[in-house]
Amino acid sequence: AKSGYDHYMKKEIHEQPRAIRQCLRGRIAEPDGGITLEGLADLEPEGMVQFVACGTSSNAARYGARLLREHGIPTQTFLASEYTADAVPVDEETLVVGVTQSGETADTMRALREANGAGATTLALTNTVGSSAARECDHVCYIRAGPEIGVAATKTFVSQQVALALFTGALVGDSDPAFLEGLRELPELVQTVLDSSRAREVADAYVDADAYFFIGREYTAPVAFEGALKMKEITYKHAEGFAAGELKHGPLALVTENTPVFALLTAGSRLEKTLGNVKEVQTRGAPVIAVTDVPEEVGRYADHVLEIPSTHPQLTPILANVQLQLVSYWVANRLGRSIDKPRNLAKSVTVE
Ligand code: M6R
Repeated sequence: AKSGYDHYMKKEIHEQPRAIRQCLRGRIAEPDGGITLEGLADLEPEGMVQFVACGTSSNAARYGARLLREHGIPTQTFLASEYTADAVPVDEETLVVGVTQSGETADTMRALREANGAGATTLALTNTVGSSAARECDHVCYIRAGPEIGVAATKTFVSQQVALALFTGALVGDSDPAFLEGLRELPELVQTVLDSSRAREVADAYVDADAYFFIGREYTAPVAFEGALKMKEITYKHAEGFAAGELKHGPLALVTENTPVFALLTAGSRLEKTLGNVKEVQTRGAPVIAVTDVPEEVGRYADHVLEIPSTHPQLTPILANVQLQLVSYWVANRLGRSIDKPRNLAKSVTVE
């Protein structure tokens, strides 16, 4: 079933180009580029769009929220476990989007039920046909990633990002042709990352590190959080993701020569500012691994470069994330961890 791969996680990382193709199939009209998502045809949110999600799905939600905000649609993101309909304004104008791979996560289900109870319109963005979330919500949009066996969410995260990009396009109505072109070429670009990644070398170089830090800004901040979540869940090592600007407000005290920092330095995410943060960690002796689409611009500031192809700036986070998935995978592999079934974790978390 692992088709020659040592782990389901590795197989699923490599299935991402296909997962993206499945998510896109039939949803971008040729030649005009109109986006249609089943079930959303009559959906025209008048008020706030609120996202509720847990774990990896919450990182996808943060990415989606940023896309919507950039198009002038007001959004809020909540960890589902922190969402209570009485503490946030929810009314008939609110659209509440539950992002959940399994469609069974207890915290997310409770949040969606509360939102429904408060009269909001609800949408499930899920991988699982007929799941509790699909049944609870007024609207459903499937991410079509196919079954994911590894506890660590990989291809489903990418599919959520792509579905949220499509969702944004569908709500906004007229999509930027460069963005649509970027979506169409995304499967190939992810394949390029998979074929050329030097993540294994980086993992080998830092397998003994005390901790791993990930910094990103704007579109890449959610990927920094996701990179750290993946690292801690499958390697059992300390990892944290930060919005780059927050480093100096506390986390910088953790930085030493034995805490590699993965810096997401992509064009379009205010790279020069993040480079300033890179200098702060280098002064403390930390090795820096740049994940970047502009290696000639930033390579000289980094000890290692994990290169990604250039594309639309709002889509680079999707490519950068693939590099980080591979780094975590190879660190966990070197440490002999139970990659597909990390200790203490379940694929679907059905208790609050
Ligand atoms: O099924 P869901 O998307 O609702 O699951 C939410 C989280 O439990 C999940 O994303 C978890 O964080 C991942 N397994 C981490 O890789």
